[in-house]
Formats: sequence, structure tokens, C-alpha cells
Amino acid sequence: MESLPEQATAYLAPIGFDHILKQTLGKNIVTQLGQLFICDTYIPGIYWAQNIWMNPKIILFQSISDAAKKLRAIQRDWANYSFQLHRRSHLITDLLPKLKRFPINFPEKNYLRLPLGSWTLLSQNTLLAATNCSSTLPNGAAHFVENKFDPPSRAYLKLWEACTIINRYPKAGDICLDLGSSPGGWSWALSNLGAQVVSVDRSPLALSIQTNPLVKFVQGSAFALEPNQFKHLDWIVSDLICYPTKSFDLLRKWLLAFPKANFIWTIKFQGETDHQTTNMFASIPGSHIQHLYHNKHELTWMKPSDL
Ligand SMILES: C[S@@+](CC[C@H](N)C(=O)[O-])C[C@H]1O[C@@H](n2cnc3c(N)ncnc32)[C@H](O)[C@@H]1O
Repeated sequence: MESLPEQATAYLAPIGFDHILKQTLGKNIVTQLGQLFICDTYIPGIYWAQNIWMNPKIILFQSISDAAKKLRAIQRDWANYSFQLHRRSHLITDLLPKLKRFPINFPEKNYLRLPLGSWTLLSQNTLLAATNCSSTLPNGAAHFVENKFDPPSRAYLKLWEACTIINRYPKAGDICLDLGSSPGGWSWALSNLGAQVVSVDRSPLALSIQTNPLVKFVQGSAFALEPNQFKHLDWIVSDLICYPTKSFDLLRKWLLAFPKANFIWTIKFQGETDHQTTNMFASIPGSHIQHLYHNKHELTWMKPSDL
């Protein structure tokens, strides 16, 4: 690649989901570099990207130290995406400032405000670099200092990631509704921050969560619950397994009743990805959708209370 279109944008696919990203980018793709799709323009409404590089530039360099020098001259912090020439990429990375802020020690506030550029080697003496990226995590990967003992499932990492992205954190005294909560990873994460949780699932919670004094378990269908059973809710979260259209109807019911709550909502797909319903979620004002690093074949819809 010797030159780039003026409005070039690069989209990094989440591992295992490059086929969905490729399908949504369509004919705008100019070239593919591993999991990175270079497009001739910026395309709005792309949710299946782990990171989006705005206006990447091609930089020529003479040597490993020259590459590091040229990157440092632009800005301090860089993350490498390596799809080839791995050893050379490592050597350049070693000459750049270390990214001491990773992994993330949840809850660290204002975490994603610090700029982080992205770069990749195109050849021995050329690299592609972008200072402005949609994610300020290295390649969009939200690595946390994990708790391997207390949560009953790893699903809590999705909730941590969503809170970090919207920069909103449940606090002591907040009242949360957790729909589709078993075995209790999200309820654990919410109660661990001191919030009170009404936790709803057809299946039981892990005993450690069910006996947590901050968690009230309601066994049954999330669809049977009505908003008028609650006076106030600060957070409404759902990791429920159901069809996207059903999930959208359920969200609308809760959003209508509690428009000022914070929402984190997993949209799960079975078989085909339902882009049409995704766009319906996306059209809700003040909301944001993305494929989280900890998402599988699902997207996360987020709406902080004050947007
Ligand atoms: C991915 S799991 C949730 C994991 C959970 N967030 C955690 O952190 O441990 C999805 C849950 O949705 C529940 N579910 C599916 N349909 C439901 C319904 N109609 N009402 C309540 N729960 C339902 C399933 O029983 C399952 O426990």
C-alpha cells in the first residue's frame, strides 16, 4: 500500500467476528491487513469493530529506532497491532514508552480519557499510524485485573467493560435491576460496588450471590416483571438470552418507565446477526452500541443516565 484515500478509516475486527465486520463494511474496503480493514471513507453505524482508526497515515522510516522516534514525535502513547513482521514490531514497541495503565484496575474512573494511538507495520520500512482511535484501549482490548474467586461467572467482565466505557459506576445505595442474572456475575459486580440489586432469572443464582444481603433474588421470567413494582431504579441491566426483537420490546418498556436510569443491555444473536433490530436500538437518543472485548456473538447497548 503506497497511498491512502483522503478520508481513509481502518476498522479492527474482534477476533472471530471479522466476517460480520467485513459484511457491514462491504464495498468500502480497500484492503485487509490481518483483522484490520482499511476503508476509503468513514462509515457511521459500524458496531462490530474492536477499534476504529480515523485518518491513518503512512509513515516511512529508516530503522527500528527511527520508527520509534517518528511515533514519539507525534504523541506519547501507542498500541501496536501486529499482523506480520512480529519481531520488528516488538523491537519498535520496546523503544516506545511502556503502557503502565494496563491491565485496568476496576473501577478506575476517567480511564479512557487518555489518548492512545494505534500503529501497524506495512513493510520493513513503512508503518500505518493513527492518533485518533475510537478506543483508547490497546486494540480495543479491555484487560482487567480479574477476580478469579468471588464471581460465579466471567460475565461480570462485560459489565465492568461497559461501565468503564460510559464512565459511570454504580455506587453504594444505588438500586439496580439485573434481568437474566443467573448464575450472578453481574449481580456480584453491582453489589460489590455497594449497590442494592433485584436479580431476576428463571434459574437459581450461585449460593454466594443468593445469600448476599445486597441481592434480592426474584425467580421467574423477566418478561413477567412490571415497572410499577418499583418506585425508583438507578441502573437497569440485562444479559438475558432472548431474540433481539423481544429484547428491544422489553427495553422499551423499562426505558419508558425509567428514562433517567443508567442502562447496560446485551443484545444476543442466535444464528444470523439481526442488523435491523440493532439499528432500532442504535436509534434511541443518548445511547451507544458496541461489540465489547468481552462480548461473544452479541452487542452491548449502553445509555448513561445523563445523556
Ligand atoms: C448469559 S446468562 C446471564 C449471565 C449473568 N449476567 C451473569 O453474570 O452470571 C443469561 C441468562 O438469561 C436467563 N434467561 C433466559 N430467558 C429468561 C427469561 N425469560 N427470564 C429470566 N431469565 C431468563 C437464563 O436463565 C440465563 O441465566
